[in-house]
Amino acid sequence: MTASIQPEIAATLVDWYDRNARDLPWRLPPGSALPDDPAWPYRVWLSEVMLQQTTVAAVKPYFAKFTETWPTLEALAAASDETLMAAWAGLGYYSRARNLLKCARAVAERGGFPDTEAELRALPGLGDYTAAAIAAIAFGKRAVVVDANVERVVARLFAITEPLPGARKAIRAAAATITPASRAGDFAQGMMDLGANICTPRAPRCLICPLSGSCEGRKQGDPGRLPVKPPRKVVPERRGTAFWITRAKGTQVWLVTRPPEGMLGGMRALPDDGWSAQEHGSGKAPLGGAWQRLGAVRHGFTHAHLTLEVRALETVSQPRGAGQWWPVEKIGEAGLATLFAKAARLALARGD
Ligand code: ADE
Repeated sequence: MTASIQPEIAATLVDWYDRNARDLPWRLPPGSALPDDPAWPYRVWLSEVMLQQTTVAAVKPYFAKFTETWPTLEALAAASDETLMAAWAGLGYYSRARNLLKCARAVAERGGFPDTEAELRALPGLGDYTAAAIAAIAFGKRAVVVDANVERVVARLFAITEPLPGARKAIRAAAATITPASRAGDFAQGMMDLGANICTPRAPRCLICPLSGSCEGRKQGDPGRLPVKPPRKVVPERRGTAFWITRAKGTQVWLVTRPPEGMLGGMRALPDDGWSAQEHGSGKAPLGGAWQRLGAVRHGFTHAHLTLEVRALETVSQPRGAGQWWPVEKIGEAGLATLFAKAARLALARGD
């Protein structure tokens, strides 16, 4: 692999982006001058944090809601932890929301986002990818931006056959050889769009790919096999129980706030039997009574698959521990993580 800069690849890609860029709410049209407006890096940062491990389609409504509720970084920095966690509910990977708030407060404190990759990298929640993406997209700085889409494009373009994750070093070095000094943000987003729409995981559409003439993977015959993935890990199965405790004829339900550390930390939730801290939950309820078994919901986390049994009890007593009675008709506003929203839906469906 050559270490020389390959300007023709970047030029071809940026030219393709000029004609084919996806129109996304956090983007400027290709070739636009960067706005001299503090809301610009804020929007780029917010979108990039949301897009970590999450699809464009899932992010769009959250990006709209967040920028409407908190149009500026300062507004977001002033939000309470609880409000922010509830607004993030459903988007997953909740440590991002906790770091988002930490980062907003740190950036508000220093008077705005730094514009170098190294300083961005030091902010809470910003890894190599996000720091590079913000430096390139928000500030036009040359930065080597490698997300999963770009990783795939580059592995194919340079026919990097080493399996992931070991191949990441070579992929990064290869990406550096095609990253231009100018229009860094358009180049990065062009690579992402190429990966999302043309150089797709299965059945890449080489016939309409602007880079097919330079693609070593294609020359070798089967670009779709790259990058080589490591064997899938077996994800452990967990079991747990969530408790739907109601009073006042099912009109109020008992909700808790999960401890700040650990899974779904700081999120409002149904009480459960501690399944997240051990292999399986204890099944122990926070209250005695004639519990009704409602069935179970399934949920996939990256590190485990969970079967969560749901039990219900109508009571006049106060459950053990801290919590609050929440109006059932407003359960949609409680900010439950997807797992508990599924459990609540099951309870409501069974209660009808
Ligand atoms: N994925 C991560 N960042 C993105 C962006 N800026 N545009 C489209 N997809 C992305």
